[in-house]
Amino acid sequence: MRYSLAAQRGLQIFVGKGACSTCHTGPAFTNGEFHAIGVSFFAAPGRVDAGRYEGIKRLQANPFNLLGRFNDDPQRSTATSTRHVASEQRNYGEFRTPSLRNVSTTDPYMHDGQKKTLRDVLRHYSELNPDRLHVDGESLLKPLRLTGAELNDLQIFLEMLTNHADNWWHTPEHIAPKCP
Ligand code: HEC
Repeated sequence: MRYSLAAQRGLQIFVGKGACSTCHTGPAFTNGEFHAIGVSFFAAPGRVDAGRYEGIKRLQANPFNLLGRFNDDPQRSTATSTRHVASEQRNYGEFRTPSLRNVSTTDPYMHDGQKKTLRDVLRHYSELNPDRLHVDGESLLKPLRLTGAELNDLQIFLEMLTNHADNWWHTPEHIAPKCP
């Protein structure tokens, strides 16, 4: 597949001034980590989704966690992170970095679908309100103030991360080989 010049410029923003690849990195475009990126965590009027803050509590209370009696390893040697993880104030509003593979087909976006389009997501990163970020948290993020042309390029790059049905590994023959 050929990368258009616009997609190449978008990639440059992704790894350069956008610093997207700090978190969206590796083959699946995620570091597998949790971050607060200033997305509203109001799930509904009066109801919040505290993200990792609640998630850690739920993990600790779960009888199937690695410290629980269902772990076949009596030494619990695999349970080190479960033993040490603690729900702290800074985990409030942290969500796991999602993969960006096929991202053009996975709308709506963010943990609760509050961003309808890719452009809405990119505007979020461009216009980010630093006051909504944790004080002690993500100094990784700052409002990018992208121009319209830069937003276009970045979006075209993200759209390139799609498995189009006409890619060779998706040809109908490959999915359903003909029986003799
Ligand atoms: C500090 C880490 C971090 C950085 C830097 C970052 N992201 Fe994200 N990104 C996240 C997290 C965490 C989420 C999920 C937030 C949520 O679910 O509320 C996310 C969500 C997204 C989504 C929505 C995906 C989906 O399926 O919902 C897109 C698209 C995206 N980021 C693109 C970018 C782009 C483009 C950049 C650079 C301009 C960028 N990200 C920079 C951590 C980061």
